[in-house]
Amino acid sequence: MGIAAEIAEDWHAALAALAWQLDAGVDEAIGDAPVNRYELAVEAPKPAVSNTSPPPAAAPAADPVDVARAVAAEAGTLDALRDALAGYAHCDLKKGARNTVFADGNPKARVLILGEAPGAEEDREGRPFVGRAGQLLDRMFAAIGLSRTSPDADSALYITNVMPWRPPGNRDPEPGEIAMMLPFVERHIALVDPQVIVAVGNTPLFALTGAKGILRARGNWAQALGKPLLPMTHPAYLLRNPAAKREAWADLLSLQARLR
Ligand code: URA
Repeated sequence: MGIAAEIAEDWHAALAALAWQLDAGVDEAIGDAPVNRYELAVEAPKPAVSNTSPPPAAAPAADPVDVARAVAAEAGTLDALRDALAGYAHCDLKKGARNTVFADGNPKARVLILGEAPGAEEDREGRPFVGRAGQLLDRMFAAIGLSRTSPDADSALYITNVMPWRPPGNRDPEPGEIAMMLPFVERHIALVDPQVIVAVGNTPLFALTGAKGILRARGNWAQALGKPLLPMTHPAYLLRNPAAKREAWADLLSLQARLR
């Protein structure tokens, strides 16, 4: 093989290895060389020698949920809430994310759609539901006359997610991560004050009601934060299970009837 062909092959192999790592959720470079931590000598930090008074006790770390509650409560507008979220440093997902994905659509909308978490495309663009699942979501709601680009509150949608940061490898958010974001979600919904909330998928259903099992809950109107809540299957699920679109259509018609 000539040198040029070898270089091209190395380049393609490196690119394929990188793509594989991205798919597996490796999205943060933390060093140039691998470190075998089993071979590192374990050395406990030596306490400073002191023959006077003991060191002052360290202040207990703030509870991330309490911090979230306090900063979210202070946000009097959506812009302030967006800033508060962008400045919240207690959720590790933020470190691996390119963008804080806040919301899209018309804040005057009667219908607020609450999704799970950004995927790769949403993370790149900084807007919720812009990938394949998002395109299906747009088509589904367009079928009952609702759109995120509508300036008219009656036909508008407002779209946000429980998690504003992409979980690595698109894994499900953990209960602790959801708990940290819940005060922001509650404040977000209070500020938009929609007539109806649509929870798409397990994560928003669990976050708002504590219930699990979207396939059982879908289509059954419930209450959350003092508002009617319609649980629906996630459009990513519908892409994988087209037969379930029939039930999703029934849910959309139920939403349309509720709005009339
Ligand atoms: N899935 C979600 O739940 N939210 C998004 O923003 C994108 C995909």
